[in-house]
Amino acid sequence: MINGTYYAREFNLSGLTGISDRTLEMHFKLYEGYVKGTNDLNQRIADILADGVVDQDEMPAYSELKRRLGFEYNGMVLHEYYFGNMKKDGSSDPARDLEFYQATVDSFGSYEVWKADFVGIGKMRGVGWAICYQNPANGALSNHWISLHEVGNVAGFHPLLVMDVWEHAYLLDYKPADRPKYIEAFFSNINWLAVDARVQLKEALLIGAGLKMQRTERANELAHQRKYQAWFYWHGQHGRPHG
Ligand SMILES: [Fe+2]
Repeated sequence: MINGTYYAREFNLSGLTGISDRTLEMHFKLYEGYVKGTNDLNQRIADILADGVVDQDEMPAYSELKRRLGFEYNGMVLHEYYFGNMKKDGSSDPARDLEFYQATVDSFGSYEVWKADFVGIGKMRGVGWAICYQNPANGALSNHWISLHEVGNVAGFHPLLVMDVWEHAYLLDYKPADRPKYIEAFFSNINWLAVDARVQLKEALLIGAGLKMQRTERANELAHQRKYQAWFYWHGQHGRPHG
């Protein structure tokens, strides 16, 4: 079966700045719950489909399972992006030579404006996520508020930086009203190389769009580096691949 079984990834994040190991341990358990929830839903849906039809009397249960899929899948995947874009001894701001930095300038006029927008979303009242996406059609970045795990994700957009702002992400370390302190702590732990590895080069995007643009030597070099970095972060560092 193509969905297979999902396995929880392991993230070595002990010793972050301003986000305690106690918070992380609790958070990893919550994440594992979403992996299990995704597997359970897929299994129950497969059970209903086993005879090749969705009977009328199965429809209410089937509908409810399908409605919960987006919540569980996104709960699993967004936590992997979130844990995957942090590291011990991270840094608050990206180096200026990273593609990500340049993309914030191209899309927002400056990195500072991009950051003001991203942090502003993180401070919004409610339970959810702040996510910086890249539009695969033109390479532009845009920041979005996601309610719960699934309301507000843009179909086909590519997540670059993902910040959990559910209260469980910081409540053991900060009061609910002190979310800005958590956001500051999050920024001091960002693994900007991991974020940069998620950026898709504008040249590659344009070729993908059929605009036949010549790739520069530098672009090819960056693409090669990025391919290696992406492989390392998703397979080398975290061990078992999904699937
Ligand atoms: Fe979370």
